[in-house]
Amino acid sequence: MNITLREIDRDNYRAIGKLKVSPEQEHFVASNPWSLAQSKYEPDLTPLGVYDGETPVGFVMYRDEDYGIMGRAWSIWRLMIDHTQQGHGYGRAAMEILLTRLRAESTTHTGIFISFVPENIAARNLYSSLGFDDTGLIEDGEVVYRLALTKTR
Ligand SMILES: CC(C)(COP(=O)(O)OP(=O)(O)OC[C@H]1O[C@@H](n2cnc3c(N)ncnc32)[C@H](O)[C@@H]1OP(=O)(O)O)[C@@H](O)C(=O)NCCC(=O)NCCS
Repeated sequence: MNITLREIDRDNYRAIGKLKVSPEQEHFVASNPWSLAQSKYEPDLTPLGVYDGETPVGFVMYRDEDYGIMGRAWSIWRLMIDHTQQGHGYGRAAMEILLTRLRAESTTHTGIFISFVPENIAARNLYSSLGFDDTGLIEDGEVVYRLALTKTR
């Protein structure tokens, strides 16, 4: 396994757009074509392809949230691994790389938020194991988790 996160460009957006979750998982995450459209018109969003070597296997997207005097935080809007590629450690590896990247890019950021629908047990297990804590908040029907960042620069 050689997982990397790659920028989306004119050469790979079609391949990333074709990746899908299973029909039972479709209410867990927006489709990749929709996410790519959002990222085009919402410049604070950063979409990235998840690759194993040269093979596209998934997609992540995050946002730099600025709450003014309340500080800044990252918000991971999307994480998906294609339904044919799940259960091989790609989701965990992609999150670990993304968290390392966000920690390195953090300035005044105080945390990383991620949310999921309550019945998404795989997401809950994955995020808990990576150190995210339950905030107790529910937003738009989704459970909100947060990973505190202590590093400042
Ligand atoms: C959630 C998702 C990204 C995980 O990716 P993955 O590559 O299948 O997961 P991994 O193989 O890396 O497993 C990572 C952890 O996820 C959890 N997990 C994965 N599949 C699981 C399942 N079927 N049941 C319970 N937990 C599961 C486990 O905690 C696992 O930990 P382990 O490494 O100790 O086994 C993937 O299942 C997916 O794309 N789901 C549909 C979209 C989605 O729900 N996205 C999240 C929206 S918030």
